[in-house]
Amino acid sequence: MGDRSLLVVVLAAGEGTRMASKRPKVLHQVAGRTMLHHVLAATAQAGATATAVVIGPNRDDVAAEAHRVSPDAQVFVQNERLGTAHAVLAARRALEAGADDVLVLYADTPLVTPATLERLRAPLAAGAGVAVLGFRPADPAGYGRLVTDGEALVAICEEKDASAAERAIGFCNAGLMALAGKDALALLERIGNANAKSEYYLTDAVVLARAAGLPAVAIEADVEEVAGVNSRLQLAEAEAIMQARLRRAAMAGGATLVAPETVFFCADTVLGRDVLVAPNVVFGPGVRVGDDVVIHAFCHLEGAVLEPGVTIGPYARLRPGTWLESGVRIGNFVETKAAHIESGAKVNHLSYVGDAHVGAGANLGAGTITCNYDGFSKFRTEIGAGAFIGVNAALVAPVSIGKGAFVGTGAVITEDVPDDALALARSRQVVKEGWAKAFRERRAKEKDKSDT
Ligand code: UD1
Ligand code: CA
Repeated sequence: MGDRSLLVVVLAAGEGTRMASKRPKVLHQVAGRTMLHHVLAATAQAGATATAVVIGPNRDDVAAEAHRVSPDAQVFVQNERLGTAHAVLAARRALEAGADDVLVLYADTPLVTPATLERLRAPLAAGAGVAVLGFRPADPAGYGRLVTDGEALVAICEEKDASAAERAIGFCNAGLMALAGKDALALLERIGNANAKSEYYLTDAVVLARAAGLPAVAIEADVEEVAGVNSRLQLAEAEAIMQARLRRAAMAGGATLVAPETVFFCADTVLGRDVLVAPNVVFGPGVRVGDDVVIHAFCHLEGAVLEPGVTIGPYARLRPGTWLESGVRIGNFVETKAAHIESGAKVNHLSYVGDAHVGAGANLGAGTITCNYDGFSKFRTEIGAGAFIGVNAALVAPVSIGKGAFVGTGAVITEDVPDDALALARSRQVVKEGWAKAFRERRAKEKDKSDT
């Protein structure tokens, strides 16, 4: 949109009683981020130069999320719920500061794309006073109906105020609106509440704009994009649409998804080229995957960086703070957390590696466990490059294993092991020849006696 400034006003005041939740509606998540985050991310991408978020009273949690996502956002409180126009006017100070374009959106519409926001805004540059995003839902009940005359938008009739003829209109108001910045405040201030709900309707801006000689237009959007979320069912529907998008984007970016419908991404997942993702893999927040990584079936990743050529799974769990350098192999039933594992190291079976640094090329045998927690604090384990940890070793942190050192199978390591040393920490084996046979014979005789 060239260099036109854009003020975005996000209405995030809804409690969402139909969610049956302690949490406000806009803090529920889709693809691992809050609905509010999705909307703020889309508006940022669409070129917002200022952002105002309108919240309900005592909603520090919503304010905190707005600031976390958009540190420059201004947060305004709408103390009384008197309608959508009243809600926008809660951001009066932001409107007074002025912008070429103003965009109003609801925070419970997480699927809207930056491209659609740009389409909605475009008519303003061509002189429109108001542009409204319209859609054709399967069931228009409850939505404002868009009364059009050719290209022009004549009015928006709220369901409760609509005539039978108006209710028959299938083209509905999605709730997103673009307003010419120079006229926005004047239009909003002229809106009254003489209607069925005695609310200040933002939608009345259309009729008022036309009365002031400003053209109003409706831009049609896909139903999938503008669907608002009011219930857990709709939240799940939004999730499905978002996942389908993320899977398509992953494949377009050069990842192979063997069974895309079984892979779940986070909105921030980053995948390189020629990544192979087998069926049933879940990505939580903060995962970055380099080129040529192979993720076998049934892996769960969160807060992890996988450099090129890493292989994980099947059944690997990477938790936050995992950093796997190139060529690392993590096998089945291995859990990592706050673990930096350098190139070529292998943790192939049944291990827990937490609060640890593993040097290049080290090999951790099956069942290696870093004992990092004593019930109060976490402690670190250091494993040097090229070290070899035998099967079923418990490394009791804080502890360090030197470069090239060997740890014998079944060890409980409580003291540091120097470079290139061998550490054995298990009791010596005892063999008693013929013991088992003699035992069986004695027990069999005893049993015979007691049975008779
Ligand atoms: C609104 C539109 C309707 C549109 C529908 C799309 C108006 C008058 N009507 O109707 O044309 O089809 O959305 O979903 O705008 N809000 C506040 N403060 C208020 C009132 C509402 O912040 O005082 C917020 C709500 O939290 C919500 C949004 O504005 O996010 C829409 O409010 P809601 O009361 O649900 O409007 P609808 O009747 O659904
Ligand atoms: Ca609504």
